[in-house]
Amino acid sequence: MSREAAAIAHPNIALSKYWGKREGGGNVPAVPSLSITLAGLATRTRVRFDDALAADELSLDGRPADEGARARAAELLDRVRAASGEQRRAAVWSRNDFPTASGLASSASGFAALALAAARAAGLDWDAAAVSDLARRSSASAARSLFGGFVELAAGPPDARPGDVLSARPLAPPDHLSIAVLVCVTTEGPKAVGSSDGMRATMSRSPYAQAWLEAAPRLHARLRDALAARDFREVGELAEASALAMHASAIAAGVLYWTGATLDVLGAVRALRASGADAYATIDAGPHVKVLVPAERAASARDVLRSVPGVRRILEASPGDGARSVSAEEAAV
Ligand code: DP6
Repeated sequence: MSREAAAIAHPNIALSKYWGKREGGGNVPAVPSLSITLAGLATRTRVRFDDALAADELSLDGRPADEGARARAAELLDRVRAASGEQRRAAVWSRNDFPTASGLASSASGFAALALAAARAAGLDWDAAAVSDLARRSSASAARSLFGGFVELAAGPPDARPGDVLSARPLAPPDHLSIAVLVCVTTEGPKAVGSSDGMRATMSRSPYAQAWLEAAPRLHARLRDALAARDFREVGELAEASALAMHASAIAAGVLYWTGATLDVLGAVRALRASGADAYATIDAGPHVKVLVPAERAASARDVLRSVPGVRRILEASPGDGARSVSAEEAAV
C-alpha cells in the first residue's frame, strides 16, 4: 500500500534579510523579512508513503542525498506523521531545474515543495499558511516560497516557544512592481558556511549582532512602505542596505561570504547607478550577487554585468507564483 503527492515550488530572494533566530528552539526568526518569489526556476518534489519502506529515503537531482539532507527531510516527515496519523516511512524524489551553484537557496524551494507534497500525501488538507509554518520549521526562508509575488515573514515574539505557529504571508502579487533579478554567478570559492551556522556565529560572536537586530526591523518596515508605494528606487536602496548590514554583522564575526568577484559586481552596480541606472545589489550566504533592476532595464544591465571579471554567467528571474500541488506526471521526478 502507498499514497503519494507532488508539488512545485520556486526559490525566493529576500529584499529585507532574515538573519538570526530567537533563542529557545523551533527555528523562529529574530527579524522580519520580505522576499520576491522567483518565476522560471523551480524545485519539483514527489513524496510517497509506503509500508514497504523501513526508513525515509531522499533522492536529490537523481542521486541518493547525503545523510544530513536525508535527516533534515525526515524531520519534516516526522512532523507530518505526528499531525496526520500516517505512520509509514516515505520515499522522496526532488529535482531543481536551476544549478545548485547558482547561489539561489535551494533549501527555500526545496522545503516549500517538500512540505506541500508531504502534507498532501499524508492526507492533510492544510491551507498555505499552515504548510508555510511547517516549511519554516525546516528552513525559515522556505516559509516565504509557499506564496507568490512579494512575501513577508514576521519575526517571532522574543518569548516564542517551539510550538508557536509562524507563517509567511503574501503582501503583493507578482505584477505589483516591474522588477528583474539578475543572478550574477561568480567564481566558486571554498565551500561557504551554511546559513544556520553563519547566523549562529554572528549572534554569538559579532560585536554588531545587536546593531543588526535593531536595524533590521526598521529597514524592513521602510521597505514594506516603499513597496506599497511602488517606489523602485527606495525598494532597491533599502534592499541593498539590508544586505550590507547583514553581511557587516556577519563579517565582524569572521563569517565572510564574499570573494573578490563579489566586490567587483558591487562596484559595477555602483557604476551603473552613477551612470543614472536604477540598479541595486543583494547578497545571501554565498559569493554571488543578485542585481535588482526595473524589468525594462534588464537587458542593458545584463550587458554591463556580463563583462565584470569573475562573473561566470547570469540567470534572469522575475516575480512569480507560490508553491502548488501537481500530478506526479507534471512533477516529472
Ligand atoms: C541570507 O532560511 O537558509 O538567505 O532557517 O537556518 O534554514 P535556516 O536559514 P535559511 O536562511 C536564509 C538566509 C538568507 C536571507 C533570507 O533569505 O532572508
